[in-house]
Amino acid sequence: AFNGVIAIDGPSGSGKSSVARRLATELGAACLDTGAMYRTATLAVLRSGVHLGDKQTVIKVVETAKVEFGTTPADRYARLDGENVDADIRGDEVTANVSAVSSIPEVRQYLITSQRDIIKAAENGIVVEGRDIGEVVAPDADLKVYLTADPAERARRRSTQNGANLAATAADIKRRDTADAKTTRPHDAAPGAVVLDTTHLDLDQVITALHELITRGG
Ligand code: C5P
Repeated sequence: AFNGVIAIDGPSGSGKSSVARRLATELGAACLDTGAMYRTATLAVLRSGVHLGDKQTVIKVVETAKVEFGTTPADRYARLDGENVDADIRGDEVTANVSAVSSIPEVRQYLITSQRDIIKAAENGIVVEGRDIGEVVAPDADLKVYLTADPAERARRRSTQNGANLAATAADIKRRDTADAKTTRPHDAAPGAVVLDTTHLDLDQVITALHELITRGG
């Protein structure tokens, strides 16, 4: 049975989440959405009422927040203080502030440590998705994939997914790509990563390509 680590990186709307969940399901592996961790940390900060400019307090809030993540593909969840926050972390307020929170080095260090702990604990392998997995979180991953797609196609997918206005979604993706590029490298593949442009591929085709890479051993 598969028990390795697969790193899937890429910008917003590249299809990472659907791909990661489906691949993990088919491999019988766990699946970790690191974007959800940054989003939950951001929600904790917003709920605490702390000013985003007050970095020391922001760091403290993130480090003491009571969060739990479900990594079973069929039952992925994020909880804050015991409450399921899957809907809240996808909301506009979190989306507008997550880049600022995730740009704080201490916040990243804290979350990267918990990501590595979760990866270590996964006994049947794990698919990890994010922006810096292949390069920073799990540079020894068995397979590293960089998923990308044209900005217009990424906006179309995101707005279909969450029912938001296409132009507003396109603007938000562009803003977040730019903001995130200061901390991670959403436009670059990690060393050793296989680049997969999904602009003209559907989910089945991407999954087939990944299974081939896994069988060939990366
Ligand atoms: O993937 P998703 O759009 O949910 O990620 C939300 C935000 O979390 C990103 O815009 C980025 O600021 C941050 N993030 C990060 N590093 C990761 C995953 C997400 O900085 N590995």
